[in-house]
Amino acid sequence: MKKMWGGRFSKKTDLLTDDFNSSIAFDQRLYKQDIIGSIAHARMLGKQNIIDPSESQKIIETLEAILVDIETGNIAFSVSMEDIHMNIEAILTERLGDVGKKLHTGRSRNDQVATDMRLYVKAIADDSKSLIKNLIITLLDLAEDHTDTIMPGYTHLQRAQPITFSHHLMAYVEMFKRDMTRMTQVKAMADTLPLGSGALATTTYPLDREAVATELDFAFVSLNSLDGVSDRDFCLDFLEAASVLMMHLSRFSEEIILWCSSEFNFITLDDAFSTGSSIMPQKKNPDIAELVRGKTGRVYGNLMGLLTTMKGIPLAYNKDMQEDKEPVFDTYDTIKICLITFAKMIKTLTVNKATMKKAAAGGFSNATDAADWLVKHGVAFRDAHEIIGKLVFFALEQQKSLDELTIEEYQSVSPVFDSSIFKAIDLNVCVNQRNIIGGPAKEQVKKAIAFNRQWLVQS
Ligand code: ARG
Repeated sequence: MKKMWGGRFSKKTDLLTDDFNSSIAFDQRLYKQDIIGSIAHARMLGKQNIIDPSESQKIIETLEAILVDIETGNIAFSVSMEDIHMNIEAILTERLGDVGKKLHTGRSRNDQVATDMRLYVKAIADDSKSLIKNLIITLLDLAEDHTDTIMPGYTHLQRAQPITFSHHLMAYVEMFKRDMTRMTQVKAMADTLPLGSGALATTTYPLDREAVATELDFAFVSLNSLDGVSDRDFCLDFLEAASVLMMHLSRFSEEIILWCSSEFNFITLDDAFSTGSSIMPQKKNPDIAELVRGKTGRVYGNLMGLLTTMKGIPLAYNKDMQEDKEPVFDTYDTIKICLITFAKMIKTLTVNKATMKKAAAGGFSNATDAADWLVKHGVAFRDAHEIIGKLVFFALEQQKSLDELTIEEYQSVSPVFDSSIFKAIDLNVCVNQRNIIGGPAKEQVKKAIAFNRQWLVQS
């Protein structure tokens, strides 16, 4: 096929150049954004009498027909037409003859591709946000059922203080809420229309950029044409938001993997969301969580890749920027499958409440509460810390937990103790006395669940 830019060339491009240069293999994903962008441009050209309004109308109708044909699989793209923009323009011209050639008036592929990518990133930011929201709802539902499910809370992966499974899940709800907010910000960063920037210095035609922005639902019009065609910050913002999201998912995955080991045995994954081993018949592996943890690496890689591509590029457009697409597409595909699969895995897991509770009791996670009891009975905190430390040492020697010691044993370490200590170290009491905002007490967690359900309605 004859190249659209072939006029000043006397030789054909080498086939290898065509292959290397072409992006149609991956940017065909932008067909819809490209067509709606072109329709808005054509409509504006007609309204401004830059082209004949009847020709503008023909272009619009043909573009609409091409959209249908692409969606029904009736169009084959060509590598020699390089990218989605020239492929669609070539099909338009094939169908409309010379009128089709007028679409590109006052436009460059540089502002065209920047517009398409912004439309695309806006759409995937929205979609990512609703996938995160869906995961949050799954977590809130599970949290609702486990406000009484005692488990040890950890620091340094050592049992620290008793909490509930619900409280633990709600920590991830907070992280994913921030991820939703980040996706909102990504959309806002992409919400500026670059079309009209031309190749780099706008155009001499009286384009109505604001009309195009309104039709394409952009909040702003770019104020500098050089930046308009060469800004890819919004792609980086998406990759950054996705990286932080994956970091959260990988931490959660790591906990799932630990929890379903025989060493913890806090949860059991549903068979439908686990896999077996080809050699060891007894195995049930948490592959989904491992893969999500693993795929975090490729998303970080995509962010680092594009940051590195963008580094040091002089103004304005350079072909390097064609490299913005694959990392964005791959990242979107990755977070999408991760979020959907992860939510299903969470929805179907079972919680081994008894093991969780035993782990909380066995790990002296109520030692702080025992020390606090002493403080409430007139002992200074540092002395109380020392006394309980001795008590723990004694209990370890006896292979007992704090609630298994007798009152005589308590009193042998400090005469201050009386039998009300047993109530104070009851795990349910320990949890429910932490009853301030942000705490694990049932009342607080229930409030947080309700608050977050409301938050989701508004977000
Ligand atoms: N396929 C190109 C890209 O994705 C479109 C813009 C090409 N512009 C140019 N002047 N060669 O960046």
